[in-house]
Amino acid sequence: MCGIVAYLGSKDAYPILINGLYKLEYRGYDSAGVAILDKELSVYKTKGKVSKLDQFVEDKNTGGSIGIAHTRWATHGEPNTENAHPHYSMNKKIAIIHNGIIENYATLKEELKGRGYTFNSETDTEVLANLIEDVMHNESCSLQEAVLIALNQVVGAYALVVISEGEPDSLIAARKGSPMVIGIGGDDDFFIASDATPIIEYTKNVVYMNDEEIAILKKGEPLKIKTIANKDKTPYVQELEFNLNALEKGGFEHFMLKEIYEQPTSIRDSLRGRLRAKEGVVSLGGIVDYEQKIVHANKIIMIACGTSWHACLVGEYLFEDLARIPVEVEYASEFRYRNPIITENDVVIAVSQSGETADTLAAIELAKEKGATVLGVCNVVGSSISRATHAGSYTHAGPEIGVASTKAFTAQVTVLTMMALRMAQLKGTIPTSRFMQLLHEMEAIPDKVEAVLNDDGVAKQIAEKYQQATNFLYLGRGYNFPVALEGALKLKEISYIHAEGYPAAEMKHGPIALIDKDMPVVFIATNNVIYEKVVSNIQEVKARNGNVIAIVTQGDKVVRGLADYVIEIPATEDMFVPLLASIPLQKLAYYIAVMRGCNVDQPRNLAKSVTVE
Ligand code: M6R
Repeated sequence: MCGIVAYLGSKDAYPILINGLYKLEYRGYDSAGVAILDKELSVYKTKGKVSKLDQFVEDKNTGGSIGIAHTRWATHGEPNTENAHPHYSMNKKIAIIHNGIIENYATLKEELKGRGYTFNSETDTEVLANLIEDVMHNESCSLQEAVLIALNQVVGAYALVVISEGEPDSLIAARKGSPMVIGIGGDDDFFIASDATPIIEYTKNVVYMNDEEIAILKKGEPLKIKTIANKDKTPYVQELEFNLNALEKGGFEHFMLKEIYEQPTSIRDSLRGRLRAKEGVVSLGGIVDYEQKIVHANKIIMIACGTSWHACLVGEYLFEDLARIPVEVEYASEFRYRNPIITENDVVIAVSQSGETADTLAAIELAKEKGATVLGVCNVVGSSISRATHAGSYTHAGPEIGVASTKAFTAQVTVLTMMALRMAQLKGTIPTSRFMQLLHEMEAIPDKVEAVLNDDGVAKQIAEKYQQATNFLYLGRGYNFPVALEGALKLKEISYIHAEGYPAAEMKHGPIALIDKDMPVVFIATNNVIYEKVVSNIQEVKARNGNVIAIVTQGDKVVRGLADYVIEIPATEDMFVPLLASIPLQKLAYYIAVMRGCNVDQPRNLAKSVTVE
């Protein structure tokens, strides 16, 4: 993981770097550091969050118009000051920031030790700093040449930036497997970052680096890009689409809450131009050329991690239900190390908010090697997954900053729903009248989400009552089972309460043993064909003195009579319930976490995009 920022230009580097780190803190917050070149190369770093670094440098010289900075999510070495980036090389003339993992670092380190190099940290990154110094020394070459030679000896993943006292007008950056974007401002200003959020306030013109590319940034010269095989490439400059407001909290206490409340908009944005109920149209431009491939697929394999995996589970029910195409849902991390049976007639759909998840990327590569068509559903435009797939559809949820995914989930479900509806239309698996009915109902979903958001009271009351619970169980059946899993994940990741999601009917095969007077059990018990069965499960919990919190359809009387608390959601088609029912569960997790004093936007040990295995 980790976030990197760098600046080279005519302005003071430090304010740009530190503000950039604050924006990237969602990527890791174990330690932070900055290196600034002003005659001498100075490195300052601290354990903990970016604010600690900011305090630490108050009385230091942070002048200079070229620098690099880093916020870390620890992989090699514990989160302490020594292991924080930037890392100097041994002669302190070179410094480097790095996001990724150098897999052969141990071998390289031994070789360098044999040549007299010493190390101050346990990191793989310091090995790279010394390797570059060693190459410069042995080959008497420029920084750019040294980085190129060094990277040809490295196995692993990286987004890195190198600065050298000997070349005070340049930065060298490189990417393989970890994200990196370069902003090109006026006045010969260059900005580098893990994503575009630190750059957008300075320029909208960006270049997304590709794997195995090196960027050479020099004051007064245009950006140069080479491959690590030393071939020149022409930088492809794109214009960023999102604006600065999307990155601010907009009056909300946390990004997570803001993002929960953005869902009517993010779902509308994901539907816009793609679903037109009156005309009977649902069409996703990005996959039009692959529609026949999907329709005739042997099977669809959906791959993802975490919340995105839950969205895939909803997708599985939708595709099978509507389009009668068999679907398998796989954890990308498992899929990549099995020997999965995939043929050229299979279609893989990779779902990812960040578009940078390492396991999902590796699973995509495997699927491509086996000849499958691979489509992406990503939120971040230009991300690695969106580029690694043959085609795909963006979710248009806008930047999601809170580590716990909320609006990205509902946007993913929205896009998968549209895909399934389109396939059903093409295959003729549902009658036209039913298809039209579903399009109209789907179009009404953003308004219904708004109604769910406006009804706030109960979630807060429930949070107050159960904030000290040590365990929660979330139960649902059919389309509501993935909702239960997602509700449990939200609670555990931001409040640190143990929570499990289960198919409601599976409760009797084990989890029922957990139920006692201290156990809150959240049921998603909306009106559908298995409603009565879920009601029986609720009775089973009540009979054992469990506490029942139920998400029900507006007007429900039966569950209201049984449950300790109910939260109503508007009536909708069963297949669209995840888009509504997940929202009170996001809010419940949010309020509990706030009441427990947890850092909602930056939960411990987590990072927004997991670019390591
Ligand atoms: O960016 P991705 O959707 O690929 O990320 C996958 C998971 O890491 C992510 O959903 C994670 O589980 C979130 N913290 C969930 O809130």
